[in-house]
Amino acid sequence: AKDVGILAMDIYFPPTCVLQEELEIHDGVSKGKYTIGLGQDSMAFCTEVEDVISMSLTVVKSLLKNYNIDPKSIGRLEVGSETVIDKSKSIKTWLMQIFEEYGNTDIEGVDSSNACYGGTAALFNCVNWVESNSWDGRYGLVVCTDSAVYAEGPARPTGGAAAIAMLIGPNAPISFESKYKGSHMAHVYDFYKPDLASEYPVVDGKLSQTCYLMALDSCYNVFCKKYEKHEGKQFSIFDADYVVFHSPYNKLVQKSFARLYYNDFLRNCSTVDEESREKLAPYAGLSSEESYQNRDLEKASQQVAKSLYESKVQPTTLIPKQVGNMYTASLYAAFASVIHNRHETLAGQRIVMFSYGSGLTSTMFSFKIIEGQHPFSLRNIANILDLSKKLEARHVVPPKEFIEALKLMEHRYGAKDFVTSQDTSLLPAGTYFLTHVDSMYRRFYSVK
Ligand code: ACO
Repeated sequence: AKDVGILAMDIYFPPTCVLQEELEIHDGVSKGKYTIGLGQDSMAFCTEVEDVISMSLTVVKSLLKNYNIDPKSIGRLEVGSETVIDKSKSIKTWLMQIFEEYGNTDIEGVDSSNACYGGTAALFNCVNWVESNSWDGRYGLVVCTDSAVYAEGPARPTGGAAAIAMLIGPNAPISFESKYKGSHMAHVYDFYKPDLASEYPVVDGKLSQTCYLMALDSCYNVFCKKYEKHEGKQFSIFDADYVVFHSPYNKLVQKSFARLYYNDFLRNCSTVDEESREKLAPYAGLSSEESYQNRDLEKASQQVAKSLYESKVQPTTLIPKQVGNMYTASLYAAFASVIHNRHETLAGQRIVMFSYGSGLTSTMFSFKIIEGQHPFSLRNIANILDLSKKLEARHVVPPKEFIEALKLMEHRYGAKDFVTSQDTSLLPAGTYFLTHVDSMYRRFYSVK
């Protein structure tokens, strides 16, 4: 199979959100801390009628319908998620309901999990399958679904929720440049979920920021080396038309892009202009450890990379800033944002992706973009994603309601024998929702 990659995409995020500026007031933090300090505008969250299973059911059903895909033509289904509802039964098995109805139970794949990286692992599994001898000619389907919620404290404004579905096959408008992949995997305790009685992670926020940047450096180095080996010339960020990052919050994305530019400077890339060289020169001799803590370097590199950030990164930030960290879906929601914003000019371009999952696992990889043919064309994907309309249709709720929803979910996490309000007034038609959990912990869903 040639040019294997993403043929089609769809996204779902909950219709309820809180504004970060209202959350600042509610939390009693200084004005601007979440909006400027973290760079976030608003945050979506699941109310008690939605969860990662309902969102993934909704998005899969919607993708199949919108692109007119026969459920029998799916041969592999992989889910990435770090939101644990069941320690054994995969989210994939819930999704099988959609395919069983059409008599298709011959579908490989289960769930992948490692923090925000599970979606990337799922995507690689599907792409590798289509490229392998075991491929039977059918499509792969990847689903990233997460609800990111944090205990009260500084991490809480970095939550979010969404599900994304991606159809995988050959001759894709968004195809992998598999030769240049660079990974970095290591053992660290930066963000993890050891308390099985709670949905909330244990987070060492500062460590997670440093780990993210270290992983980025390491992946970028491997990526560049592989590129150079194959192409016989140096890679710099100028060879990427867009750089898409896993986006826990926008400030980290700004810092990450600046970090890549600093890497180019250290690698002596000819693309780094004279003025930037002068501004970064004082930091050339820093050890890498020192460089992660140096605030002046952070400022200087962000400043020299600013105009490049505007052109290569800003168009990727729409959904992450509006919806928040969607964990496994976060990177692909950022990618969906660039399709939404730039689909008319993307053909022929290269998009570099950076996936990070705490713990840690990370990979940098790249896509080559072509216009594609209907229904798998960039224009149609952008139409179906319909991001502006989905964002506009949302309901802003006061922080108090958000906190109440979290309290109820804390109480319900791991519980049995309850019935939800079944209040679906805010959900669009076609959305799955949780109706009840019985005395055997079995979950039941309905469609609006
Ligand atoms: N106006 C403008 N900026 C402000 C204001 C203000 N009033 N107040 C604070 N800030 C800035 C700070 O200067 C800081 O910016 P800087 O990083 O450029 O210095 C930023 O806001 C954040 O404030 P801090 O006090 O440094 O950090 P805080 O204690 O609020 O925690 C953190 C932030 C660590 C990101 C926390 O939200 C967290 O732990 N989140 C979850 C972990 C996470 O997302 N890690 C990322 C990778 S791992 C993953 O994806 C889960």
